[in-house]
Amino acid sequence: MDAPRCDQTEAWAALEGHYEAHGRELDLREAFARDPGRFASLSFEAPELFADLSKNLVDLATLKFLVDLARECRLEERRDAMFAGAPINSTEGRAVLHTALRAPRGQGPFSDEVHGVLDAMLAYAESVRDTAASGIRHVVNIGIGGSDLGPQMAVPALDAFVHPGLQFHFVANVDGHDITPVLRHLKPAETLFIVASKTFTTQETMANAHAARAWFLENGGTDTARHFVATTTNVKAAAEFGISTTFGFWDWVGGRYSLWSAIGLPLAIAIGADNFRALLAGAHAMDRHFAQTPLAKNLPALLGLLDVWYRNFHGFTSRSVAPYHQGLKRLPAYLQQLEMESNGKRVDLDGAPLPYGTSPVVWGEPGTNGQHAYFQMLHQGTDVIPVEFILVKRPTHALADLHTKLLANGLAQSQALMLGKSSEQASSERAPTASKALDPATLAKHRTFPGNRPSTTLLLDQLTPRSLGALIAMYEHRVFTSGALWGINSFDQWGVELGKALCSDLLPRLASGDAAGLDASTAGLLTRLRA
Ligand code: F6P
Repeated sequence: MDAPRCDQTEAWAALEGHYEAHGRELDLREAFARDPGRFASLSFEAPELFADLSKNLVDLATLKFLVDLARECRLEERRDAMFAGAPINSTEGRAVLHTALRAPRGQGPFSDEVHGVLDAMLAYAESVRDTAASGIRHVVNIGIGGSDLGPQMAVPALDAFVHPGLQFHFVANVDGHDITPVLRHLKPAETLFIVASKTFTTQETMANAHAARAWFLENGGTDTARHFVATTTNVKAAAEFGISTTFGFWDWVGGRYSLWSAIGLPLAIAIGADNFRALLAGAHAMDRHFAQTPLAKNLPALLGLLDVWYRNFHGFTSRSVAPYHQGLKRLPAYLQQLEMESNGKRVDLDGAPLPYGTSPVVWGEPGTNGQHAYFQMLHQGTDVIPVEFILVKRPTHALADLHTKLLANGLAQSQALMLGKSSEQASSERAPTASKALDPATLAKHRTFPGNRPSTTLLLDQLTPRSLGALIAMYEHRVFTSGALWGINSFDQWGVELGKALCSDLLPRLASGDAAGLDASTAGLLTRLRA
């Protein structure tokens, strides 16, 4: 698509001027004092989500300039091309159509194929859920990256909806410490293994699948065909492995966008067909929002633009995600792959090196745990790190008192980041644990918080299959937005290749000890590992 690079647009120049005049020095406390309508004008609604952007270092003018930038970079045309199935993954010549996986029957591209597999997979999931007939008590998903992180994140997130007679395990790492403790407590007759791999060639997954099959047979397992299924685009390789039950998907589904495909099978078994369809419906509602809502009110687009603002104008290099819901404990890991594998790129679509930064580092832990670990740095460290709070209004447990405390903590953190604490305030307070030997002025400096640290709060009414679907789809489109503005290919991952190739070279060397031609460090380490 013929679109200018973001830094060569008029809007970029306007944003640079705006940043110098109003952005760099924007003070959130003053902005709220000046504008009583700030919360209302900077909060947005999308399906299943309410987003408060008012504690960010923006004003309405910033958003207007950012929307101008999106238009000049032809974000809407790029988005429409994705939905229409254009081969926007240019380096692999592929369409990017995860949105087709959640389009209602008859409405999206490849609808017959998509709904054919979906129906078959959900019927199979229901048969496993009939535990009296299936005899299955444990489901082990063997997969890595996009063939692991989605179900691994979503099963605990939707714990309240999970079949009570089934337990789910996720094995990813090519480290025997991953699969060994999982297998220790299992019985072959009660276990279903799902070998999940788009390519069915990934070293880690294949090694674990072989280990699982060996364990199954050594421990008296019979009927491998009933206890091993595969989810893959490479049905032939799965058959060669000896797996006859296979649920397929297509090369236009990127690994990190594949939760909605057959890769979602463990989740479908966990929550059942109706709930899995609700997850898809929530994601589809967000797709419609992204496709149809004007950019000025389009939540994924606005968050993607905010990411550009922070990365390229403020120079912030990371973003912390703090889900105040224990079920979302794996969300930061999921988002790391989604965002950093998609947008961790250094050249534009023509291969020219970029003069600006792309993907931020995305990281985090559930609240309140993070508060007792790294939040110290967020409040008083030298770097400004925008934080994303995810709060869920209604829990699915009955411990109302705990939930109120959780919400109060989430609100308090975003408030504390913004308000800070002046040295006058710090001096006027008692600090019972402080050293009596230190002079009060020095102590106050240690106890001062600069404040004015930005955060976004995303609010869900309840964490359900539908709202989780909408939340994840929102993140996908947000990553699309920032990637489109940066002019990169968000859908390949060549950066993973070099390590894989070098690993193939080192594998036989670890056995033989041949260190010829290696750099001195690698040769030295190899020798020590073999000693
Ligand atoms: O890490 C690279 C990658 O290709 C991811 O994009 C993908 O999700 C993962 O490996 C697993 O690949 P596969 O599903 O083919 O086993």
